[in-house]
Amino acid sequence: MTLKEAIVLRHSVRKYLDKPIEAPAREAMNRLAAECNAESGLHIQIIYDDSTCFPALLAHFGMFRNAKNYIALVGKSSVPDLSGICGYYGQRLVLAAQQQGLNTCWIGGSYKKKKTAAEIAADEELICIIALGYGETQGSPRRSKPMEALCNVADADMPAWFRHGVMAAQLAPTAMNQQKFYITLEGDTVTVTETKKNAMSAIDRGIVRYQFEAGSGHRCF
Ligand SMILES: Cc1cc2nc3c(=O)[nH]c(=O)nc-3n(C[C@H](O)[C@H](O)[C@H](O)COP(=O)(O)O)c2cc1C
Repeated sequence: MTLKEAIVLRHSVRKYLDKPIEAPAREAMNRLAAECNAESGLHIQIIYDDSTCFPALLAHFGMFRNAKNYIALVGKSSVPDLSGICGYYGQRLVLAAQQQGLNTCWIGGSYKKKKTAAEIAADEELICIIALGYGETQGSPRRSKPMEALCNVADADMPAWFRHGVMAAQLAPTAMNQQKFYITLEGDTVTVTETKKNAMSAIDRGIVRYQFEAGSGHRCF
């Protein structure tokens, strides 16, 4: 599966099969997490076979089922734009997971933050987690804002690479599918900004930034 196929096929999945993640997929994910950490200075950890941070009530009766693995996005509190950086690298891991035959769901709120098995040093913080596993289903497509609401370039004037980037951004996960972002092309430079700030908007911006780059092959700031 190519990265572009992964962008199209990925949807949030909250119900998982009771099946451990296979060794080759674990190795690939661990390798990529190490690469992301080396590049970014983050302390991303992938926790397998541990469901303690998923509320039992939610696990059995609510939206999540058999959630037993997760990516913990951890980094130094002093890092400027830590949430944005976690969004960027988290989405890189999400698309790679999709390529490994795994499903994912970003989780900012529906988990017990104090019960994760992640190592968090005194000068670090946990920004959010991403559930990981083999889905009962592949999830389903959802509504997206139209291109003209998400970027500053008119349809007729869009370079092909920019169009691919915005199409990928339309498919990017955002908290509660709010899509409160705007993509600006000035000269050759692409920038993503938040149109409404909230607790999750910087993470969303980072996710969209990676998704644009993966879809367009073009740098996004
Ligand atoms: C930063 C962030 C936080 C999220 N937090 C939660 C959450 O706490 N619980 C949940 O069920 N889904 C959560 N989601 C998943 C979104 O609801 C989902 O990505 C969005 O509705 C778009 O759907 P899609 O991922 O299938 O494209 C979160 C997504 C993001 C990006």
